[in-house]
Amino acid sequence: MSATASARACANIALVKYWGKRPGPGNLPAEGSLSLALDALVTETRVTFDAGLASDALELDGAPADATRVTEFLDLVRSRAGIATRASVITRNHFPTASGLASSASGFAALAAAATRAANVELSPRALSRLARAGSGSAARSIFGGFVRMHAGPRDDDAYAEPIGSPLTPRVRMVIAVIGGGVPKTHGSRDAMEHVAATSPLYDAWLELVPLDLEAAHAALEQGNLTALGELAEANALAMHASAIAARPAIIYWQPGTLAALAAVRELRAAGNAAWGTMDAGPHVKVLTTADDADAVAAALRAVPGVTETMISGVGTGVEVSA
Ligand code: PMV
Repeated sequence: MSATASARACANIALVKYWGKRPGPGNLPAEGSLSLALDALVTETRVTFDAGLASDALELDGAPADATRVTEFLDLVRSRAGIATRASVITRNHFPTASGLASSASGFAALAAAATRAANVELSPRALSRLARAGSGSAARSIFGGFVRMHAGPRDDDAYAEPIGSPLTPRVRMVIAVIGGGVPKTHGSRDAMEHVAATSPLYDAWLELVPLDLEAAHAALEQGNLTALGELAEANALAMHASAIAARPAIIYWQPGTLAALAAVRELRAAGNAAWGTMDAGPHVKVLTTADDADAVAAALRAVPGVTETMISGVGTGVEVSA
């Protein structure tokens, strides 16, 4: 058995958000979601099962880090492999200098792929997607490249992601506008989802909206209709944040720079550019655009007060494993 393996995975940004879980373990999503993989945000992870270790050890970007969530995840892999051996996990995020961008998706996708290979557990891509989901809901989507749809399904076995082919895939880019220097996020997505589900009067409306947006986004992808996709993505992100803002007490991820960046996105559109914004559990604005318009979009966002960094990302690939 090879006791060590490495994997690299790209982060993804949801165009129809995962925002709410079903009860129970394993990050079962309340509804589906749809995302785009980004090649500018990559995590590389090496897992080595080592009989000499008394506990799992995590090194994150060159420094020792708390391994609690890694151990919980590796326990799932160990139980499938029938082993008890502890592991050393060395992981590096090739992300912009500012933190606060979605790294749990690429992190758990890379960990799932490297740990299963190192433990000699053979899984289909779909089964790997389900496993990655147990680490972080969005990680199920980072097993695949391009546009990816996560299914919620009625049962645990149905909650996996799969890639969606689209004529848009070669054309799209995402411009990432880091707001406020990437200060640590105020509310982790896990706790925030629970709090919003428990207290927001808009949560039920959000859950009713998602299946409709998903079907419309999927149709837009198949038809190659970028305008329809972009409009849906921006509206869906605003609806997700509306549910969070309406929670009691409120969860407000935005900073002034977030709203200024969204205004710039609207101006870019009015000037004829392809540009639609989306935000996750943080203040940053990610703008769906095209290869043709990406430079103009990035230049306009760089000029926005509160934007501390911009980056243009191409479309990412699925997870890759090496020995
Ligand atoms: O996978 P998690 O638990 O980090 O949740 C991700 C939640 C959002 O980024 C806000 C939305 C999404 O679909 O990625």
